[in-house]
Amino acid sequence: MRILTGIQPSGQIHLGNYFGAIRNILDMQEKGHEVFIFIADFHALTTVRDPEALRQGTLNAALDFLACGIDPERTVFWRQSAVPEVQELAWLLSIITPMGLLERCHSYKDKLAHGKEATHGLFAYPVLMAADILLYQSDLVPVGKDQKQHLEVTRDLAIKFNNAYGEILKVPDAYIPESVAIVPGTDGQKMSKSYGNIIPLFDTPKKVKTAIMGIVTDSTPMEEPKDPETCNVYKIYKLLATPEQADEMAAKLRAGGYGYGDAKKALLAAYHEKFDACAAKREELAANPAKVEEILARGAERARAFATPTLEAVRKAVGLK
Ligand code: ADP
Ligand code: TRP
Repeated sequence: MRILTGIQPSGQIHLGNYFGAIRNILDMQEKGHEVFIFIADFHALTTVRDPEALRQGTLNAALDFLACGIDPERTVFWRQSAVPEVQELAWLLSIITPMGLLERCHSYKDKLAHGKEATHGLFAYPVLMAADILLYQSDLVPVGKDQKQHLEVTRDLAIKFNNAYGEILKVPDAYIPESVAIVPGTDGQKMSKSYGNIIPLFDTPKKVKTAIMGIVTDSTPMEEPKDPETCNVYKIYKLLATPEQADEMAAKLRAGGYGYGDAKKALLAAYHEKFDACAAKREELAANPAKVEEILARGAERARAFATPTLEAVRKAVGLK
């Protein structure tokens, strides 16, 4: 089973990204699937106009994913733009892409509603995404709900292409795990960069502590029993701790005499236990950017070996030499 996903380099990653997306990819890697992950720098260009920010964002995304446990020996991990064949496939798909299909895309309409300029790149974004997926003959694409429609576009284009030119492209399935819980932020809403309520994965211990100590709780006094199910600290702790540790905290909250401050301290300790090794690994990699470049270059080379035969078949099918 070939599983492929693209990640947009976009700012500081947080516990929501880890438990909502990264952990899932790590699981697939552990299960021995063929995992393909790339940093979608071509896509990022539709919204990032500062070259240095794009370069730095791409490197940071590589550091984040490698530090979290993406193993470049098992998983093919590269920078999207290092395999420019994807652009050619995007063009060859665009010739069969109905305008209406793209005009219906919510993500395009949302971006315009948020004041983004209506560029061709933004409009054609789903075609490039389809090319990303189809170039590598992917079976399964794990994405968040917001990307579901783009997967439908991808499937439509693969079917349309195959109908026109023969069975060449594999029609992929989206994988949208329903079981993935929404991780609450420090204010109890969904954790998201745009809400300013994140607990970062990689930041100074001081910032992490400030975020965790700032989690909003109700005003039940220390002595009184508390309901773990409505406690934001417990909800996050449950993700980080072992089931036994989580049960223990739930029992202490229910019993009373255990304050939210105590729960936050336990959460902080569990956070460090889980992520300190990743943070150390990130630091080590950050000190050696040449090594990161080498990993990405090797990944691109492996990715390209899969891309070339697909593109050749597509070129031949449409009548190019
Ligand atoms: P943000 O909302 O911070 O901008 P992104 O939209 O970049 O995060 O999310 C990247 C990935 O992380 C997506 O797959 C998304 O589903 C997942 N994710 C982000 N926040 C959460 C959350 N609070 N709970 C679960 N998954 C999340
Ligand atoms: N559009 C995706 C996002 O914003 C990133 C992406 C680009 C992607 N190409 C992809 C995801 C191919 C899955 C497959 O999250």
